[in-house]
Amino acid sequence: MIQLDHVSKSFSEGIPALNDVTLRISEGEFVFVVGDSGSGKSTLIKLLLKELEPTSGSITINNTNIRSIRRRQIPYFRRNIGCVFQDFRLLKDRNVYDNVAFALRVVSASGRSIRQKVPVMLSMVGLAAKYRSFPKQLSGGEQQRVAIARALVNNPKILLADEPTGNLDNNNAWEIMSLLEEINQRGTTVVVVTHNLEIVKAMGKRVITIQKGTLVSDSLTGAAGGDGDEN
Ligand SMILES: Nc1ncnc2c1ncn2[C@@H]1O[C@H](COP(=O)(O)OP(=O)(O)OP(=O)(O)O)[C@@H](O)[C@H]1O
Ligand SMILES: [Mg+2]
Repeated sequence: MIQLDHVSKSFSEGIPALNDVTLRISEGEFVFVVGDSGSGKSTLIKLLLKELEPTSGSITINNTNIRSIRRRQIPYFRRNIGCVFQDFRLLKDRNVYDNVAFALRVVSASGRSIRQKVPVMLSMVGLAAKYRSFPKQLSGGEQQRVAIARALVNNPKILLADEPTGNLDNNNAWEIMSLLEEINQRGTTVVVVTHNLEIVKAMGKRVITIQKGTLVSDSLTGAAGGDGDEN
């Protein structure tokens, strides 16, 4: 479903932000990506979203080499990938309902499907009762739930989360991670970048570790720089 072959990304001279990363993530997996600050985790996420282009190597998502996707097609490509970030990125001047509906309006969904889908998503993230609240009236954990509902309302196959619990206390962090796990159990492939090693350990999922741009371990393949073909 997601495949990187010898992907490197350099921004300038010196150590590349990502260095010859090869990895495969299958449909339905839940994967943590960990590593020190500056090790290249967000760069990896941005490459998957086609916000950045690799300097070398190839990235295949759903059997498409994403280098071949044209600029005009990028918005359509991104509909298949939900994403959430540490800072929630909600629209401050719109309430919870409209923040989620926004993701449907930009793809010209019908009014009927918006009225159908938004409440379903808000129930799933446990915020049905707060649909009229504005972001500033919500806790951090609640804001992240809205962001997750928005990321999933178009029913993407993949959800990418870059430090989704980075601004949350431990309780909220656990609730968000449990929600991501539940989303994964419903069939979405989930990739979560995090610094929260305690949660990573406790959840027992696949863990990919990146250090200074290099994939140094992968709990699935058990290998440094795993090729994905050994078990
Ligand atoms: N747009 C950019 N221009 C130049 N250098 C960049 C750019 N984006 C990232 N880098 C560099 O690439 C390296 C990896 O950055 P990245 O943001 O991927 O790290 P990270 O693992 O997400 O770190 P953190 O845990 O702090 O979020 C860093 O050295 C960073 O300074
Ligand atoms: Mg980062």
